[in-house]
Amino acid sequence: MHEQTVIEADGPVLIFGGPYSNLQATRAVLAEARRLGIPPARTICTGDLVAYCGDPLATIGCVADSGIAVVMGNCDEQLGLAADSCACGYPAGSTCERLSTDWYAQASALVGAAERAWLAALPRRLNLRIGGRRLAVIHGGVSAINRFVFATTPPAVKREELARAGCDGVIGGHCGLPFSELVDGRLWHNAGVVGMPANDGTPRTWFSVLTPMASGIRIDHRALDYDHAAAAQAMQRAGLPVEYRLALASGLWPSCDVLPPREARARGVALAEGSFTWAAKDATAARRDGLLWPDLLGDGSTKAPAAIAAA
Ligand SMILES: [Fe+2]
Repeated sequence: MHEQTVIEADGPVLIFGGPYSNLQATRAVLAEARRLGIPPARTICTGDLVAYCGDPLATIGCVADSGIAVVMGNCDEQLGLAADSCACGYPAGSTCERLSTDWYAQASALVGAAERAWLAALPRRLNLRIGGRRLAVIHGGVSAINRFVFATTPPAVKREELARAGCDGVIGGHCGLPFSELVDGRLWHNAGVVGMPANDGTPRTWFSVLTPMASGIRIDHRALDYDHAAAAQAMQRAGLPVEYRLALASGLWPSCDVLPPREARARGVALAEGSFTWAAKDATAARRDGLLWPDLLGDGSTKAPAAIAAA
């Protein structure tokens, strides 16, 4: 699969990020795709198959065997290169950086030549055509695989990244938190990750479904319930540090080192599922830029689904 790979979607597309060696969550999201009748050809993972949790090899195998489309994450790239760190972009001296030395070293010791070769061959970009729109699927940023792009990352940053992408929108991952935003009428969409909760005080993890409609593209941000206790047991068996294991149940990250201030203040605030429609390109209604979901700014700037659909 190469960067030029184009996925033509004539039906709903399920998107998820960050399996993170969490086999139970990965199986659960793939089962959800089957339940929704979404085939592997329209299921996309935004990368980082291996990270914090206890089953790196089985998770790689599960995703590889599923036949879904996968974009390379920084963890995948580093393992493919047999590099000595995850290159997540954590601040120097941060808790996340300290913890990453444990899970990365352990995963790297387990991953064999065949898995490294498979990870190294993943594309850095996929192109998704859906509902008359062209979207670039990448991991962090277009400019850098490990760029953190959050909901409150300034629009200027997203504008620059969208310009590099050269299409109608970006579907990204890496930062671990789901959101959707319009910048100059272009979409920045992050489905969130399935392998770790969204720091919202619940064990749920996140994925999304994009559905082409006559009125535009319907975007559903959806929560995933899965057997997080079994995932925690796998981490315990693997002898991984306790911090991320506890996070699977508490829904709270061990550190907010990487988060912008507004996302850090939202720690422990349960996310509500969200649905809205990104109006079709030829819609005559006025365009509405800004954060579509979640209502992170707490100022009501995100609209109810019906209002967004009409915007
Ligand atoms: Fe990443």
